[in-house]
Amino acid sequence: MDRANHFDTLCIHAGQAPDPTSGAIMTPVFFTSTYVQEGLGKHKGFEYARTRNPTRDAVEGNLAALEGGRYGIAFASGLAATQALFELMDGGDHLVLGHNVYGGTFRLVDKVMARFGLGYTQVDTSDLAALRGALKPNTKMVLLETPTNPMLGLTDIAAVKGLLKEAAPEALLVVDNTFASPFNQRPLELGADLVLHSTTKYLNGHSDSVGGVAVTDDPALSERLHFIQNAAGAILSPMESWLILRGTKTLHLRMARHNASALHIARWLEARTDLKAVYYPGLESHPQHALAKRQMRGFSGIVSFDTGDAGRTARIAERFGIFSLAESLGGVESLVCHPVSMTHGSVPAADRARLGITDSLLRLSVGVEDVEDLLADLAQALSA
Ligand SMILES: Cc1ncc(COP(=O)(O)O)c(C=O)c1O
Repeated sequence: MDRANHFDTLCIHAGQAPDPTSGAIMTPVFFTSTYVQEGLGKHKGFEYARTRNPTRDAVEGNLAALEGGRYGIAFASGLAATQALFELMDGGDHLVLGHNVYGGTFRLVDKVMARFGLGYTQVDTSDLAALRGALKPNTKMVLLETPTNPMLGLTDIAAVKGLLKEAAPEALLVVDNTFASPFNQRPLELGADLVLHSTTKYLNGHSDSVGGVAVTDDPALSERLHFIQNAAGAILSPMESWLILRGTKTLHLRMARHNASALHIARWLEARTDLKAVYYPGLESHPQHALAKRQMRGFSGIVSFDTGDAGRTARIAERFGIFSLAESLGGVESLVCHPVSMTHGSVPAADRARLGITDSLLRLSVGVEDVEDLLADLAQALSA
């Protein structure tokens, strides 16, 4: 039996081996810009640190294994990884983008890539008929998030791949797996060509680094992305690489707790009579709960709820003691975010209304503190 194939073991060991010079069990942080060569053209595979760094090699191997792919390509941020994926396309190509993708992803497409001739259409990717209608002969990529932020809507990854095979065989399917993490969802196994992460969130998991990664099982895509990584230079630093390696050693432990506590909190919120709506894919009341159970192993740590009263929501947001009012998510500590005034401030009001992102919505990133303490904090905040 190959024990190294189990996810929990991969978290701790994949991509890493004891340092050959000292036996150090933990991968060193290789702070170096260049490498001494023994002679002309004679070196150990490392020439210049933008191109390769042993700490970055280790985290790339680790993250690739966690997503079930052979190749990881790490970047300075989630958005730098996203841009590298867009650079797989040419001016004049067409991109289909989920209607509720991260605002920074939309801004990158709309304000930067479009200036270089990339066309795009935004569509609700959970609606296969709408997605089919958005495809064009020159569609080269479909990028979607599932679950989405902050409404936690899902897209059936395997069904989208099935549609693309038939209607747009040249289009690459990219799944931003930041919200689920590979513990809960493995898009490559469901047919995606590429998986994208802001490692800033669950993979690093400690809110102390910014990074991004693309993972694929396709050697040709890996080669093109490594070329872009080196040519454009938006590389993940050795220190950030090491922090993520440290983070993923406990990914399986953290995600199990995030999943359990978020489900507990979502059920508790749903049982209250003073809230208008609770959004969590693990709730039987979630309209795509059947898909969630099919596609995900657990439902992750993000729960959104709507009080229906903007004034009350504002008071609640400022009363928390353990949850901190902050953007971002996926760290060990619990956070609360008011999407309209924080993460989604730049989304036009009409689009927000269409997506259900109201003034009275709050998004929780449920951390790994004691869940009873979190419930007590929520109870006192909701008494506002
Ligand atoms: C789903 C998702 N994708 C991508 C990004 C961008 O990642 P980064 O902030 O690391 O550039 C974010 C950031 O919040 C995100 O939430």
